[in-house]
Amino acid sequence: MKTVITGSGIGIPKNLVRNEVLGRIMDTSDEWIRTRSGIEQRYYADPGEGSVELGMIAAQGALAAANRSTGDIDAVVFATMTPNYFFPGNGPVLQAKMGFGNIPTFDIRQQCSGFLYGLDLADSLIQSGKYKRILLIGADVHTPFMPWQNGWDITIGREDRQVTPEEYAANTSIRDRTVLFGDGAGAVVVEGSENGSRGLIASKLFTDGSNIEALYVRGVGFRRRPFIDHEQIDVGDSIPVMEGRAVFKEAVSRMPESVRTVCDSAGVKVSDIDLLLIHQANLRIVEGVAKQLALPPEKVPHNIERYGNTTAGTLPILFHECLTDGRIQPGMLVCFTALGSGLHWGAALYRA
Ligand code: ACO
Repeated sequence: MKTVITGSGIGIPKNLVRNEVLGRIMDTSDEWIRTRSGIEQRYYADPGEGSVELGMIAAQGALAAANRSTGDIDAVVFATMTPNYFFPGNGPVLQAKMGFGNIPTFDIRQQCSGFLYGLDLADSLIQSGKYKRILLIGADVHTPFMPWQNGWDITIGREDRQVTPEEYAANTSIRDRTVLFGDGAGAVVVEGSENGSRGLIASKLFTDGSNIEALYVRGVGFRRRPFIDHEQIDVGDSIPVMEGRAVFKEAVSRMPESVRTVCDSAGVKVSDIDLLLIHQANLRIVEGVAKQLALPPEKVPHNIERYGNTTAGTLPILFHECLTDGRIQPGMLVCFTALGSGLHWGAALYRA
């Protein structure tokens, strides 16, 4: 039996934010963002719109595409690093809002590798024989996570004013991170299928927690007492820390490595891959991984220019776009790969 993706959907918020707008609230430019990351625009959620709300839109699309209703689903796996609540996770919130029965829901983290880990988990749950159909969601809403003081309403066109010099300086101090991220969700329905020609072939996951400081949130955790206080916020400990260059280096070596490993384990050549879906953190990373694997650009689609890095949303959004515009055709060998905070990374091979 193979685990097959029978439907996909996406949830993209309506607020389109172009690079130029960010230049109004911090010292950055369209030129810098495009050259360093390939990003041209991203979408921001409205206040009150969380990863559950975007995940629901994606989930509804995936269920419709799979010709399934909530009653057909045996379990939900929800990958996010930006849940609606500190606890419980997004699973039960989505379960109640979408009117699923009392099916189990699994909440996982793994940041940019969230969807990849979720796919492996969903496959394992299906292969165990315990569950037949699983809804897998990857969704993240970064905008509240990385605040620039009072610039929000300007970026989404609700307010038209100059930020104060203090706000501008504060926003600029975190510009290397904020410009990279956008909000978005993707979802797939995965099902066990006896038709062995399609489905997930192999998956290899890795973790190296020896340098979590390269990409993490220093504060707002339960070794602090209290876990959150004004001091942590004042010194910026609620804002992600990222050593961009170090993470970049890891990304361009670990992802190709894991693609080779998963191909070896499945007995296929890297050149057999028809489409390589790479986590979209930076276009230069995507191009670097493709180059190392000697895969031509037409086999390595990207959409970072339109969405930025949507963390757990990225891979299912890219998959959905390639499926709906016909770049994924039945029988194609599709490879997913991602790397993110943890560090977690890996690759999965899928026969469409
Ligand atoms: N606008 C203008 N200038 C900027 C900006 C900005 N938004 N951000 C940084 N700069 C400046 C820096 O201050 C620096 O100036 P200096 O030379 O005067 O000191 C200069 O630009 C160069 O900065 P670098 O950090 O060297 O730029 P780099 O080319 O390395 O690009 C980037 C930075 C885009 C962050 C890159 O390193 C990267 O993409 N890293 C990987 C990110 C990633 O993969 N994250 C993992 C996924 S996220 C997750 O898991 C949640």
